[in-house]
Amino acid sequence: MTLNTLTRALVAGLAVAALTTGSALAQTAVTATLRADQPGARIEPEIYGQFAEHLGRGIYEGVWVGEGSKIPNTKGYRNDVVAALKAIHVPLVRWPGGCFADDYHWRDGVGPRGKRPVKVNVIWGGVEETNAFGTHEFMDFAELIGAKTYVAGNVGTGAPREMAEWVEYLVSPTHSTVADERRANGRDKPWKLDYFGVGNENWGCGGDMTAEHYTNQYRNFAAFIRVPEGTKTVKIAGGPNTDDYHWTETLMKGAARYMDALSLHYYTLPSGKWENKLSATNFNEQVWADTMVQALRMDELITKHSAIMDKYDPKKRVGLYVDEWGLWHAVEPGTNPGFLYQQNTLRDAVVAAATLNIFHNHADRVRLTAIAQMVNVLQAMILTDKDRMVLTPTYWVYDLYQPFQGATQLPIAVSSPAYAVGGASVPAVTASAGRDAAGVIHVALVNLDPNTPAKVSVTVTGVAGKAVSGRVLTAPAMNALNSFDHPDTVKPAAFSGASLKGDVLTVQLPAKAVVVLALK
Ligand code: AHR
Repeated sequence: MTLNTLTRALVAGLAVAALTTGSALAQTAVTATLRADQPGARIEPEIYGQFAEHLGRGIYEGVWVGEGSKIPNTKGYRNDVVAALKAIHVPLVRWPGGCFADDYHWRDGVGPRGKRPVKVNVIWGGVEETNAFGTHEFMDFAELIGAKTYVAGNVGTGAPREMAEWVEYLVSPTHSTVADERRANGRDKPWKLDYFGVGNENWGCGGDMTAEHYTNQYRNFAAFIRVPEGTKTVKIAGGPNTDDYHWTETLMKGAARYMDALSLHYYTLPSGKWENKLSATNFNEQVWADTMVQALRMDELITKHSAIMDKYDPKKRVGLYVDEWGLWHAVEPGTNPGFLYQQNTLRDAVVAAATLNIFHNHADRVRLTAIAQMVNVLQAMILTDKDRMVLTPTYWVYDLYQPFQGATQLPIAVSSPAYAVGGASVPAVTASAGRDAAGVIHVALVNLDPNTPAKVSVTVTGVAGKAVSGRVLTAPAMNALNSFDHPDTVKPAAFSGASLKGDVLTVQLPAKAVVVLALK
């Protein structure tokens, strides 16, 4: 820690009178109450979904190298990436876009690979799109890693008929011409199409539509998503950009009864401005603090969009799916600007964990999310370089948080002093909790302050815990990262800083750290 950052940390801490006086080391005093006797909604596993778009090296190179590749693969899918994704039990993958979806015509991606048309990926880098990875490759990939399927359809340049035939191709058990085309292409059994999105960002790259126009388009297109009796495909309406509450209001008013879910996209831009993207790795503490402010906006956005949804859907039948989110930095120097390839540091991990806490705490409405994106694009889980692979700090958050998949959310009210730098101020510590099927209570704590550890005292009501164990993710530097040469710099470790005495759980939470505890 430099003298400068230490001074600023002390000032910030003193400003909120949060330092434990008399001890050699400053620490923030945080209290919390965990109500194990007030179970909330299920934390759906799909909250841990991921987004994989035809963008840069996300699909090609990242997931798919083709059967002839020297990189070890199974039927064209990289073995290392598949194993890493299986290890964190990715519950769902969203494909093929993003903006790519509203320019994608599914017939380009079926049939013999050598005969598929080569197109230009006009959205991302103007590179050739061979269509080698198409419908079969995606659906089989999802099966291979054990994930549910979320296909985003084309509204912007497509038509209801094209969309309807794609769905028929995917799910029809009949011998219709379209279903038999699927068989001729090597797949007899219909796939399970779990989710279908009616367009993407139709307020922007998906057609520059008004909310009123998209509402009508949604109703029109969604009417032709027909699946066989006894099966269910969740219909997702393309939702708002960030804080466009008019979009949510219009869509819910005009089409709530025709949808199962509404999407929300929100990216964290540390500067708060699209025109000013900042380095993923080279940043100071002010930028760290600004990043946290921008990331925690997710809570306000979900709260406000949910309140509008409650007006039209008080029983919360319609899910709010945050199917694109994450940190958006400047691309790594020397890489194609259209490929959105960025490094990933401890800062990304802290943001991911704090955001997952927000999702858990809104589990009654937020039932699916997809971080952008899975491999080599934006806030990726995994980075690859030819035959090498590295697991990012964000990947390790998804690993730590695995016990929350399918757990029941438990309310945890946190009283935390602020972490403040310049004009940026956020609660130093955020938390969430859940109970798994075996009755084990899991508590996630995130210290957003990069300098000052916290002493967190959690009063647990409604359960008598006997033992506590956990893991921690942290590193000495704010911008610590895993590189191809040093892939294990940021990795979870066993955590011994928690103790249970009666109904009080005491946690010595390191600065800039994510801790996940199990109470048995
Ligand atoms: O994830 C990258 C892009 O961000 C997606 O294609 C688009 O939906 C969003 O604007």
